[in-house]
Amino acid sequence: MYKLLSAGINYAVPAGRRDGRISIKEEASRLPSPTFNIEQLTQNFAERGLSKTDMVTLSGAHSIGAARCLTFSNRLYSFNATHNQDPSMNPKYAAYLKTKCPPLTSNVGGQNAQPLEAALDFTTPNRLDNQYYIGLTKHQGLLSSDQILLSSPSTSKLALVYAKYGSIWASNFKKSMVKMGSIGVLTGSQGEIRRQCSFVN
Ligand code: HEM
Repeated sequence: MYKLLSAGINYAVPAGRRDGRISIKEEASRLPSPTFNIEQLTQNFAERGLSKTDMVTLSGAHSIGAARCLTFSNRLYSFNATHNQDPSMNPKYAAYLKTKCPPLTSNVGGQNAQPLEAALDFTTPNRLDNQYYIGLTKHQGLLSSDQILLSSPSTSKLALVYAKYGSIWASNFKKSMVKMGSIGVLTGSQGEIRRQCSFVN
């Protein structure tokens, strides 16, 4: 068992799954894109047997970590024909992000060449909690795929529940993580249980 610390509550979830020893780039490209609309995101999760509820719940993992500028800078500059920046983003937050991610042209070597990034959760980037959802209510979702959870009628209700009741999110997150952890598990003598999750043994 593994201790999952969330919103100050300890949860025990199963630890260790048999995983492959190689990574194939083409398989990783089936990951959802941050520019997907709600139907595309839903479809992507459904392909792995995950529901819309799982999708909203697991997106709360963006309560920690960071994204490179190139994954969201389209929202800051030349967004579309009528808006320079994404109107679903809080203007003050957008101004802050622009200080972290200059436009491609003024960034020598391009954003791809520099590991410029911003926290996925503006308020508590190093703590697994429901601030990610509270951030969405303030239009501080970093990725379009984050903010869209609040702007889409089919997902906004649950996102708002999570913004209000961190303990409900924490409890559901545990269940959805366990569900996600059972996708494509190798069995028998195939693969291995990694001692360190980011490296093969
Ligand atoms: C809803 C669909 C999702 C999309 C479109 C998405 C997209 C992204 C993107 C674009 C990044 C930044 C990657 C980079 O700059 O290299 C990211 C980071 C991250 N994602 Fe997701 N993601 C999704 C769902 C999830 C799920 C289900 C989890 C886990 C349960 C997750 C956990 C994370 C974490 C922890 C990071 C930060 C990584 C770090 O700081 O190194 N994401 N995601």
